[in-house]
Amino acid sequence: MQRVLILGASSAIAAEVAQIHLRRGDRLHLVARNPEKLSRLTQDWPSESVSSQVADFSELHENAELTRRAIATLGGLDTVLIAHGELGDQLASEHSFDAAAATLVVNFTSVVSLLIPLANQLAAAGSGRIGVITSVAGDRGRPRNYTYGAAKAGLNVYLQGLRTRLHPAGVSVTTLKLGPVDTPMTRDHQKHVLFGKPAKVARAIVRAMDAGGGEVYVPSFWGAIMPIVQHTPERLFQRLPFLSGR
Ligand SMILES: NC(=O)c1ccc[n+]([C@@H]2O[C@H](COP(=O)([O-])OP(=O)(O)OC[C@H]3O[C@@H](n4cnc5c(N)ncnc54)[C@H](OP(=O)(O)O)[C@@H]3O)[C@@H](O)[C@H]2O)c1
Repeated sequence: MQRVLILGASSAIAAEVAQIHLRRGDRLHLVARNPEKLSRLTQDWPSESVSSQVADFSELHENAELTRRAIATLGGLDTVLIAHGELGDQLASEHSFDAAAATLVVNFTSVVSLLIPLANQLAAAGSGRIGVITSVAGDRGRPRNYTYGAAKAGLNVYLQGLRTRLHPAGVSVTTLKLGPVDTPMTRDHQKHVLFGKPAKVARAIVRAMDAGGGEVYVPSFWGAIMPIVQHTPERLFQRLPFLSGR
């Protein structure tokens, strides 16, 4: 039995991850911003296995105390998944610093504010697994989502450093670089064959974290596609709408 903390648990993908851990007989603590979504998610789940807490992770200075309470409720911590994120309004972020800052805070700064206490807790315990959902959008800046992508890219680098720091302490840090998934976040996006389904993506996330993977593309075929997107010379990239999304 693992003690599992899921931050951003009302995400369509995180909710599927929670189901997998519940079926395994793990002890879960779920944190999400929206109380209605959280109670809908947990209403049929056994209260001895699942506890929950409401929080807005953009309230940065509350996050250390939030993790302390969550770990106390679980009676320790083995595994944590940080899943929350917001695409934000790209167009607004090109004209308003407040809009850009909101996207950067929720997708980058809030995650750092959560990782600091969590990493120190697991390092002191000498074991544990950390998983953070980032995105292929962090692999190359594109006009349609570069503010969000920059936050996810920053997270990828932060996690590289954290992974190497925590390796000697026996704590794994898995960067989960997701391709597009059919969830409320992409409600208005035109779907294509490369869109993943939340249940399948969740299974891959749990597999990767169980294996203590470092940087993992989900689904794995993005690991073949993204090096091409990353390494296409800029002058060519700007002329290829199917790559640049212009
Ligand atoms: N869907 C995709 O195509 C895709 C692709 C690559 C990466 N991702 C990443 O996958 C993760 C999960 O997203 P999803 O696709 O499952 O979308 P989703 O169902 O819309 O989930 C996003 C979650 O983030 C939560 N959240 C946003 N801001 C928050 C805040 N300030 N405090 C607390 N919670 C907050 C949302 O809470 P509310 O319910 O309260 O809004 C929601 O539960 C995100 O990190 C996202 O960036 C998604």
